[in-house]
Amino acid sequence: MYILGLTTLGDAAATLVADGEVVAAVEEERFSRQKHHAGFPFRSVEYCLAEAGIKIGEVDHVSLYWKPWVLGHKAVQALRALAVSRDRFKARADGVSGVSRSYLGMLGYSRLIREHFGASDFRFHYLEHHQCHAASAFFVSPFETAAILTMDGTGEATTTLTAVGEGNDFRPLKRIKLPHSLGQFYSAVTNFLGFDMYEGDEWKVMGLAAYGEPEYKDFFSSVLRTRGPDGFRLDWRVLDHHLAKNYQFPDELTRVLGAPRQAGEEITERHRNIAASAQVVLEDVVLHLLRALHRRTGEANLCLAGGVAFNSVMNGRILRESPHRAATSWSRPTSGPRSTRRSARPLSRRPTFPSRPSPTTSSCLAWRVFSPTGPSWAGSRAAWSSGPGPSGTGASSPTPGAPTCANC
Ligand SMILES: [Fe+2]
Repeated sequence: MYILGLTTLGDAAATLVADGEVVAAVEEERFSRQKHHAGFPFRSVEYCLAEAGIKIGEVDHVSLYWKPWVLGHKAVQALRALAVSRDRFKARADGVSGVSRSYLGMLGYSRLIREHFGASDFRFHYLEHHQCHAASAFFVSPFETAAILTMDGTGEATTTLTAVGEGNDFRPLKRIKLPHSLGQFYSAVTNFLGFDMYEGDEWKVMGLAAYGEPEYKDFFSSVLRTRGPDGFRLDWRVLDHHLAKNYQFPDELTRVLGAPRQAGEEITERHRNIAASAQVVLEDVVLHLLRALHRRTGEANLCLAGGVAFNSVMNGRILRESPHRAATSWSRPTSGPRSTRRSARPLSRRPTFPSRPSPTTSSCLAWRVFSPTGPSWAGSRAAWSSGPGPSGTGASSPTPGAPTCANC
């Protein structure tokens, strides 16, 4: 059985899975030379088919990591923003109309593939974005059972998902939806500090945080706060991701933090302290979620995924402070040469790391949906238990940052 998984909104990529084995996985930017290439990954699909030596007619299933018709929740958020100000509404409405064009294109992918690559009887599947993140972490992990936490800017509407995995299946437990988003929180801070969320500059905030003191922790704790035993809320009226995209910030924010840093402006102690404060508040909220997840599932193993799970400083604190015994982070696996053997980003307390290919998220979930036996990672599990260890496997430190999906 051949399953083709696609990502298209940003970092477009394709992965081909044949009877449980990844035979090819590549990002479109490797061909186009456009970093974070967005759009249908024609050349990646072509490459995957050529690597397998097959035609599109032999592919049984094609899956995409998005349900493009789920737009209602974002539209409601835009209308809610209208009650606050026209600028807030416009920032969201522009976003909705912009991504809507991308989503409409998704609805034609099945036809597009047949037009471009030839006739085929494959079935096309649209999959929930956060379930794809969960699949990308759990199905390639060494765990038979695990608690799963996925966090990004946003999927179709969900920004955070908890689940429990067992064997070749997992069960979603809780979804947190817009406007409450850990990724959007961190991205807004990224732009406030004069960096660029569209370039994935969140890692710069994380790095800067190490040089500062959490002077503004109380303030950020009021903006991003825990809610109930297993949730959180983001006060988007104070820290508005959509305005921040355009480097606009509400007075409620600048009154406390001062003026936003301009790109290229000298980095001062104030900037370092803002980064340190946002970082520690993010960590506190994630640990709150993880403690609740542990209470609910009793699972000792943990899988993390989504752009926020790239934050390796946060992950270090999870290792030290979360109640889970072993944790693994497969944060937004990518498939290019740079990351094919490195994108498995283990946080495990185990002494050795696996070295294995990394399917794109949608192909992982496709496997869950269509395979009666689940993915076969026997070779990888062996590598996990007998590999030479972190220094010998290319398992580098996770690339930090928060959201990586184009709409995350
Ligand atoms: Fe995502």
